[in-house]
Amino acid sequence: MPQSQADQSQQKANLLNTRVGELVANDFRSAHLFSQHGIDFCCGGGISLARAIKRFDADEDALLNALVALAEQGDKQQGLEQLPLPDLLNYIESTHHTFVREKAPLLLEYSQKMVRAHGDNHSEIKPLAGWIRALVDDLVPHLMKEEQILFPAILGLYNQVEMQTCFGHIANPINAMQYEHDDALQIFEKISELTNGFTPPAHACTTWRVCYASLAEFEADLKQHIYLENNILFPKALALANS
Ligand SMILES: [Fe+2]
Ligand SMILES: [Fe+2]
Repeated sequence: MPQSQADQSQQKANLLNTRVGELVANDFRSAHLFSQHGIDFCCGGGISLARAIKRFDADEDALLNALVALAEQGDKQQGLEQLPLPDLLNYIESTHHTFVREKAPLLLEYSQKMVRAHGDNHSEIKPLAGWIRALVDDLVPHLMKEEQILFPAILGLYNQVEMQTCFGHIANPINAMQYEHDDALQIFEKISELTNGFTPPAHACTTWRVCYASLAEFEADLKQHIYLENNILFPKALALANS
């Protein structure tokens, strides 16, 4: 349930009164935010967030909003960890697989437009379009393998239904999917290098900017998607298979 304004103000007041070191100890993801906002969470960790913001001259509103968003994300993650397996499978398909299928054609369209308009003058554009094509060509069959082979097998385990499979132990397709996740993340590293961390140059046209913003959004969704499968779904399926 979304928080009320009053709850959020209270949460922000609590954050300001908490020591920076304690915030990092409670949630290591906040360390990255403190670095981004120039706050020394290592040597300066013993002071309250309010004092640290003053000392390091950080943007209080932006930092508090980011910390609140992080906490909400954490709550959502915890909710997903507690979902029964069939609901988790549904969630992954309806949220993340749908996202890939909706956004992948747009990424191809934007990058092909960029090749036509700027490919001859900017050396990064053609390789970028090539990596986007490689990513989509990897991800689309990956989703199909999960939906048609692995996820039904996990559901069979959950429902204790004897299934005839061609892959032996469920660890085999899980390992294969994990390799494919690593491949997709490696492609994104190349894309991130080529795009300077999805930062368009000052002269970039609208398509170029939309393409980079869409890539950043796609990467964030893909990381969440892979985290859910590697760290929540697969360990649960393996535990069921070995029980
Ligand atoms: Fe998936
Ligand atoms: Fe996957």
